[in-house]
Amino acid sequence: MEESRFWSVEPSVREAYAEDASGLIGSPDAVARPTSEEEVAEIVRLCADRSIPVTPQGLRSSTVGGPVAFGGLALNLERLNRTIDIDMERRLAIIEPGVVLGEFKRPLIDAGLFYPPDPTSENECTVGGSVLTNASGSRTYQYGPTRRYVRSLRLVLGDGRTTEITRSRASKNTAGYFGFQDPVDLLCGSEGTLGIVTRVTLDLLPAPPGFIAGMAFFLRLGDALGFVVSADRARQAGLLEPRCLELFDDASLDLIRPHAGKLGIPGVAKTAIFFEQECEPDEESIVLDGWLDLLERARALAEDTIIATTEEQFLELRELRHALPSEMNERGRRARDSGGGKLSTDWAVPIEALAATVEDATRIAGETFGGPFVRYGHIGNGHPHFNLLAENAEMLARAREATHRMAMLAVERGGTITAEHGIGKIKRDYLRYQYPDWVVQAMRAVKRTVDPKGILAPGNIFG
Ligand code: LAC
Ligand code: ZN
Repeated sequence: MEESRFWSVEPSVREAYAEDASGLIGSPDAVARPTSEEEVAEIVRLCADRSIPVTPQGLRSSTVGGPVAFGGLALNLERLNRTIDIDMERRLAIIEPGVVLGEFKRPLIDAGLFYPPDPTSENECTVGGSVLTNASGSRTYQYGPTRRYVRSLRLVLGDGRTTEITRSRASKNTAGYFGFQDPVDLLCGSEGTLGIVTRVTLDLLPAPPGFIAGMAFFLRLGDALGFVVSADRARQAGLLEPRCLELFDDASLDLIRPHAGKLGIPGVAKTAIFFEQECEPDEESIVLDGWLDLLERARALAEDTIIATTEEQFLELRELRHALPSEMNERGRRARDSGGGKLSTDWAVPIEALAATVEDATRIAGETFGGPFVRYGHIGNGHPHFNLLAENAEMLARAREATHRMAMLAVERGGTITAEHGIGKIKRDYLRYQYPDWVVQAMRAVKRTVDPKGILAPGNIFG
């Protein structure tokens, strides 16, 4: 590609936008950083005319290579970052896709508003990226993924046309196939393959009155998983309302201990569960009693449970959760120098299959991979991340084999190959385990219809 007023072909610029958190390194021929929807449309029209691939990207925190461009244009949307309107009355936010998710969320709370999706990388990802991956996070346990909050989208389609899609306001709808009834649902999680998002309208909630948060410790992983199942049952029975249930296994605790400061993670603890529940301030002690009771019955190290009594302690606990993937990403980055890297699983299973699947997946990690790994994450959703750290190319091949086997296992157990990170370019091989061929063909047909030249994010989802 030649230099143009829309994009740069400078090698240093191409290099700066070539990679994401998965470690996959692409090779864009050019990088565009538009500042308006008109500019995006003009760029896509130009690329469509010349059949140049266009891969949209934000801050590139993807762990599956979605924003990585192999050839063609890396269309970086970071500079499309205006907040157009926060409508307090209708509880809507209209923003551009390049706004950093954490920066969008922080001021809302002071205004009495709340946007629930909380990917761990919220300060390192854009709103657009979170929509196109249908991102979730720990609070998805109570609030569901990003999709649920996306009311409308403005898009540039594969031919450069601009369009807007908005959810129907009807409370029931049986017109046509489910995924098409609200095309917003097709776009959320489409990983850039169906359109470039240029504006997002999000539904907001009233801010919760207050909440409690704590970290409970166990001597055995099995006890912790038993506790998760009990907490989930208590939720279904309306006895507890956990907002999240997050796991830290023994290796994760070893990793975060140096970051724990005064919080005091007991030396004997082999597993921890982080939990939150919203409540009125005057209900805090009764809600806490419910949790402590359940913890005692689940053989937790009851005396050691950390309850965040101040905002500062709560932030420390959240920070510990964030430190874990950051530390693993950093170790993965270092291991890449010697041909290795970090691989993360993203499978999830129904809660009733969780304990057996974690056990079998742990066996696979031990036997097939055989190197160091940590298990942590969204255990309430049956969604632990196994992070396998390979120090060289040979270990990396074994890690790939192990994560592959785990993905198959999760599908066998009624689960999914990816619960939040998406397919990108790294998990394409797994898609066939989850869907019969005709379903994948139908997805491809939709893509061909809206992007006949196949220029949008080629290589994502489908090979
Ligand atoms: C997390 C990201 C990696 O759960 O999904 O921290
Ligand atoms: Zn996660």
